[in-house]
Amino acid sequence: MADSNDTVTIATSEGASGTTLLGIGAYRPRRVVSNEEICETIDSSSEWIYERSGILNRRVAGPDESIVSMSSEAARKALASSGIDPELIDAVIVCTSTNWTQVPHAAPQVATDLGRNGIAAFDLTAGCAGFGYGLAVATTMIRGGGARYVVVVGVEKMTDGIDFSDRNTAFIFGDGAGAVVVGPSEVNDVSPVIWGSDGAQGSAIRQTKDFKQYVDEVDASAAAAREEAVLQPYLVMDGSKVFRWAAVQVSKVCAQTLEAAGVTAEQIQAFIPHQANGRINSAMAKHLGLPDSVAIANDIEQTGNTSAASIPLAMEAMLRDGEAEPGQIALCIGFGAGLSYAGQVVRLPAKPPVD
Ligand code: UT7
Repeated sequence: MADSNDTVTIATSEGASGTTLLGIGAYRPRRVVSNEEICETIDSSSEWIYERSGILNRRVAGPDESIVSMSSEAARKALASSGIDPELIDAVIVCTSTNWTQVPHAAPQVATDLGRNGIAAFDLTAGCAGFGYGLAVATTMIRGGGARYVVVVGVEKMTDGIDFSDRNTAFIFGDGAGAVVVGPSEVNDVSPVIWGSDGAQGSAIRQTKDFKQYVDEVDASAAAAREEAVLQPYLVMDGSKVFRWAAVQVSKVCAQTLEAAGVTAEQIQAFIPHQANGRINSAMAKHLGLPDSVAIANDIEQTGNTSAASIPLAMEAMLRDGEAEPGQIALCIGFGAGLSYAGQVVRLPAKPPVD
């Protein structure tokens, strides 16, 4: 006779006590687009854009620079900088909101590109907080025994979904990918995450239409032969609403993150906020009372806002340019569409990025 359900014991997994960032890599699209070029299609000026957002240039991906190819290149560099055998990687998480091919999702193709066909691989969407969410999931997987070495990629091709005649969004966004390799460690280097969301304010950053509406309109338009119709869904944003939420609410999340990590503002050596706006970064640093000695990421100046890619891209830039040193303590905070946020204190990878 079969055992009763009560007597069946289901095994659980056991993982590492701590996690660490082993390596970091970035992919920046070849084409640099200046504020002057953006102002060819909107009524604005380079000075206004720089003063209000801190942006001078952004990268725009070409047709051959896809979500998968940019992710794979950033992940390869992260693996090279980590020095670990790629065969050890047993999961890939691709954090993005701009993979327009939803099926198949991107991560399995990235795993295959890395020579790791067959491992666990999935995409994760949490707007500009995506990388922080991905890092939290990866560390939880490693501590829970679901995986040992995880590649987390933040990647966006924002410019595919931007209306370059909309002066509220045309100048802000850019494209690129950043990746980290996360692994087990006896000394813990990634703090608990402080994360959350506010669906009530979801419309502050949204698509103008969903893809089903788009398809229906294409069909209708074809039938009516109305070729001039604006069919594509675009990203629109109530910028000042998001600005206020970030400067006030997300600043508080930064303080909670430090507390959860058991780290004081004086012990932070680098502050790596999502690169949404230079003025938001300054407001957060002021709210936290960060000492002047803390290096504040300013990748937005040359890269624009790359949503889920911005924190790993900014981290890589700080390490490459010597603004931060390998092994230093950094506060990271992602925030944006959802609305959603995720903050962590991390020890920066011990090894510098590779070219
Ligand atoms: O990554 C996801 C999370 N996103 C964010 O965190 C974005 C947060 N928001 C922001 O970064 C800022 O709100 C923006 C940079 C998007 C805009 O800056 P702002 O200081 O909030 O400008 P605003 O929207 O309050 O507009 C101020 C003025 C307005 O004119 P009036 O009403 O004062 O006469 C706008 O019409 O600037 C005008 N304006 C522009 N002027 C020149 C708006 N866009 C432009 C423009 N060029 N591109």
